[in-house]
Amino acid sequence: MLKSKTIFFCQNCGARYPKWQGQCQKCGKWNTIEEQIVQNPSKKIWDNSKSELTKSSTSPVLISEINVQSENRIITMDSEFNRVMGGGIVPGSIVLLGGEPGIGKSTLFLQLSLTLNQKVLYVSGEESENQIKLRADRIKHSKNNCFIYPESKLENIFIQAEKIGPDIIIIDSIQTLTTNSIDSVQGSITQLRSCTAELINFAKKTSIPIFLIGHINKDGNIAGPKILEHMVDTVLQFEGDNKHLYRILRVKKNRFGSTNEIGIYEMFSGGLKEILNPSEILIGNKNEKLSGTAICASVEGSRPIMIEVQALVSTAVYGTPQRTTTGINSKRLNMLLAVLEKRAGFNVVSKDIFINITGGLKVEDTANDLAIVAAILSSSGDKVIDETSCFAAEIGLSGEVRPVNRMEQRIKEAEKLGYSKIFISKYCDKMPTNKIKVIYLSNITDLMSMLTI
Ligand code: TYD
Ligand code: MG
Repeated sequence: MLKSKTIFFCQNCGARYPKWQGQCQKCGKWNTIEEQIVQNPSKKIWDNSKSELTKSSTSPVLISEINVQSENRIITMDSEFNRVMGGGIVPGSIVLLGGEPGIGKSTLFLQLSLTLNQKVLYVSGEESENQIKLRADRIKHSKNNCFIYPESKLENIFIQAEKIGPDIIIIDSIQTLTTNSIDSVQGSITQLRSCTAELINFAKKTSIPIFLIGHINKDGNIAGPKILEHMVDTVLQFEGDNKHLYRILRVKKNRFGSTNEIGIYEMFSGGLKEILNPSEILIGNKNEKLSGTAICASVEGSRPIMIEVQALVSTAVYGTPQRTTTGINSKRLNMLLAVLEKRAGFNVVSKDIFINITGGLKVEDTANDLAIVAAILSSSGDKVIDETSCFAAEIGLSGEVRPVNRMEQRIKEAEKLGYSKIFISKYCDKMPTNKIKVIYLSNITDLMSMLTI
């Protein structure tokens, strides 16, 4: 006999309360607490399991006795997506994709569905068949096997899935799904949690991979409880600036691959286009000699990318100098400026400093430090850095130039793109190179003297 109980949940952080209140004490948000009915087993789980033990069909197996069949990953036509997923889609996996509204989540998955040779069931609780067809017409595709199903009732989705027998299911979006078994409104925490649990169950039993599109909240996290991200196998984040053409697909969690990979796309009138050679696109006109730009041999995920850092240093007009960054962490800039001031005698107090990474890219690789410092010094002294030079090193608090990982890959990429000089740390292992000249630095004061070329 199941007893039902009323519990109040915070829709933002998932905290539980015995009675309603206006503000959540855990996350501090107002009006996020909602009433929900949960069903409690009348007996203790331990007592229940004793009586049901004999019914259980599975039992523990020795790890050495488990036979692994080779994972037959589904390889899509989108090579960026395959790489981000760790080499294709794993059967029976659940993938959650989050991103700002209008960033292109529906476009990405529709394009994937239209270019796959597999049978796809695209369930949309947000758009009608006509709207999806209009979008599909913008994306060029030849033959495909994609079924569009505008529905938000989970039970109906399972019925259709069994009828059609798709190879992949796409749900746009998880927040629109509802199940009859829960007496709660669409998009509430209990609905989200139980719909996801049902879908996971379905995916694991049938080996059909399921893709979920998730809305994000104001802070950029996937709306709903954090537990959703724990339940699924892979969490992807689609980001980019609406004003910029580039979109970046990042991995926040992946049970079947690396979380460092990124996929770069360009949004154009006919859908999303993969950017296979990002370095060539992200770097502006190499022939114009401008001060304040430096190139970094960066690595995003497993792929080397040449990134252009732009700096503008000007005299501060107001008492507090401005520090504005686009694409890098402003705290990192403050640290680099403090090091420059303390270790290299560079006066930063009376200067406004602006840093920009071209292409709307957000970078976190610490190897960008040296290029950022070089760009600042170049702009400050109005000295043009040779356009065939690039940089790859981290800067420590005592002004030392530190080595970074994947040096060989960075040098190879720089060499491939025609750079003639790369500035790296003195403490890196010496590597044989063909044409490119490697310049070893031990301290940022070395850089200051080297830049006056
Ligand atoms: P959409 O996939 O609807 O975003 P989401 O599902 O994340 O909310 O993408 C909408 C944006 O993409 C919209 O602003 C128009 C743009 N777009 C293009 O520029 N070209 C295209 O071919 C398509 C289909 C969309
Ligand atoms: Mg959408």
